[in-house]
Amino acid sequence: MRLNAYLARAGVASRRGADELIKAGRVTVNGEPGELKTFVGANDVVSLDGERLQPQELAYVLLHKPAGVVTTARDPQGRRTVVDLVDHPVRVVPVGRLDADTTGALLLTNDGDLAHRLAHPRYEVDKVYEVEVEGELDDAALARLRDGVDLDDGRTAPAQARHLGPTTLELAVHEGRKHQVKRMLAAVGHPVTRLHRSRYAGLDLEGLEPGAWRELESSEVELLRDLRAWRPGSASSAPG
Ligand code: URA
Repeated sequence: MRLNAYLARAGVASRRGADELIKAGRVTVNGEPGELKTFVGANDVVSLDGERLQPQELAYVLLHKPAGVVTTARDPQGRRTVVDLVDHPVRVVPVGRLDADTTGALLLTNDGDLAHRLAHPRYEVDKVYEVEVEGELDDAALARLRDGVDLDDGRTAPAQARHLGPTTLELAVHEGRKHQVKRMLAAVGHPVTRLHRSRYAGLDLEGLEPGAWRELESSEVELLRDLRAWRPGSASSAPG
């Protein structure tokens, strides 16, 4: 793996932060100065400021994100982050983003490769939202959400939408554009008043109170890996 990924896995910095450490000459590989292009294998000895590092185990965490925390690893304004809520020995970071006022299912991991793939639109990860809106939604509004809505960054892909009540709906999308659900609902004349993600990539929040998290089962991690494997266009391609 690349040296910056190794350093991130060892929990010393994000990949970008690791690049800075490498450029500052603080990282050695087998006693030689590390470079941005250096690749590291299982038998290489990597040190930071002369101290040997061990890569950490891969960790996968599902958080029930409460409202009022930001989805970032570090907030320059000092607000509470999702990472602050996950007291895990391994440094995990969020996959994708939920707005500060959005609640629900959020995956965090230090598996940069899987995170990158899950966040890529090509893999079409299902995200299911429960949405409360202003005004009563009629069938025409739901049909527009299903067909695709014109936003300033292009038309949205077909989605699934169904009524949960007069002013609430369930919306399943697989794109991950910024503020996508809020913009879609605003575009059909029903601004969002509350947004909750009930499922991410098939993972639901059963048994998790807001603010609580759990480690994924290994079978769940396998499912996420399969998800990336059989999506059309995947670099790792279909089995066989
Ligand atoms: N869409 C939004 O508008 N906000 C979120 O937090 C997630 C999806």
